[in-house]
Amino acid sequence: MKVSVLGAAGGIGQPLALLLKNAMPAGSELALYDVNPMVPGVAADLSHIPTPVKVTGHGADQLEAAMADSDIVIIPAGVPRKPGMSRDDLFNVNAGIVKSLVETGAKVCPNACYGIITNPVNSTVPIAAEVLKKAGVYDKRKLFGITTLDVIRSNTFVAELKGLDPTSLDIPVIGGHSGNTILPLLSQIGIEFTQEEIESLTPRIQNAGTEVVEAKAGGGSATLSMADAGARFALVLLDALNGKESVICTYVEVENQPTRFLSLPVRLGKNGVEEILPAGTLSAYEQKLFDEMLPTLEGNIAKGVEFANS
Ligand code: NAI
Repeated sequence: MKVSVLGAAGGIGQPLALLLKNAMPAGSELALYDVNPMVPGVAADLSHIPTPVKVTGHGADQLEAAMADSDIVIIPAGVPRKPGMSRDDLFNVNAGIVKSLVETGAKVCPNACYGIITNPVNSTVPIAAEVLKKAGVYDKRKLFGITTLDVIRSNTFVAELKGLDPTSLDIPVIGGHSGNTILPLLSQIGIEFTQEEIESLTPRIQNAGTEVVEAKAGGGSATLSMADAGARFALVLLDALNGKESVICTYVEVENQPTRFLSLPVRLGKNGVEEILPAGTLSAYEQKLFDEMLPTLEGNIAKGVEFANS
């Protein structure tokens, strides 16, 4: 199996590559690409770690070599938020980056699975879908927006509040990946909450990214927790492609739902998405938040589609 990471010299890319180097199956290949000229150095650095995973580094003019024949392409390339910015404020820079990377992928790894980290995920995933469609290689079972960070944050915050082991939790988070489109389903995990607890946990999970952006005071957004989340997602997907199925929440193209793309629990298998699972019964509070966020999510999707086709 070959995994390529595009944006591999960045704040997310480097620790993500480290986690993958240490956990990918023996014999697999990790190809690192970035426009930052230090990427061959990042690859050389990682290659000294004694694990049976081959690491290669590729600079600005070597995108095709980095992506060629990849089974999985993980994309954290692009600019992160600064205090006061929304994820949507990143659109103008990041939309073009994702579009051009996926255009190359359509040529050199037409069967790859894509995990998009670059924000605004709600829009960059539809951009990738349209680019792949135009190239005639779109398989909606193989395109994912990585929303795992919302899940691990939910697990952490609920465990802290209730004195539980966070590794025992797997809280479904549906919707999208920005502000009020992030909807943790706290009613579904068999833990009793007061309404007050739910009304403080839910916005904390939705705004957790902003908490990090403000604490980093202009130095960027979540990188280490995102690298952890990205590695979890990539490893679960790798396992699934190798025949070990799992269920994970991720932002994918859906059918018979109010929006074209939505994060839902998805069963992953050898072909990527094997089945999109229902969100289950929402509490009245969750249903209200779900209905309220739909216009935002729909707008984010339309913006991505329009950009890709412009
Ligand atoms: P960063 O600025 O530290 O790293 C980005 C890297 O992308 C840099 O090394 C840069 O050289 C590279 N890059 C820029 N243009 C490129 C291109 N055309 N091709 C290849 N590489 C290119 O940023 P950081 O903190 O790693 O964040 C990356 C992205 O991830 C941002 O858009 C951020 O908003 C997003 N993010 C997503 C999260 C999620 O939950 N999905 C969570 C946190 C961040």
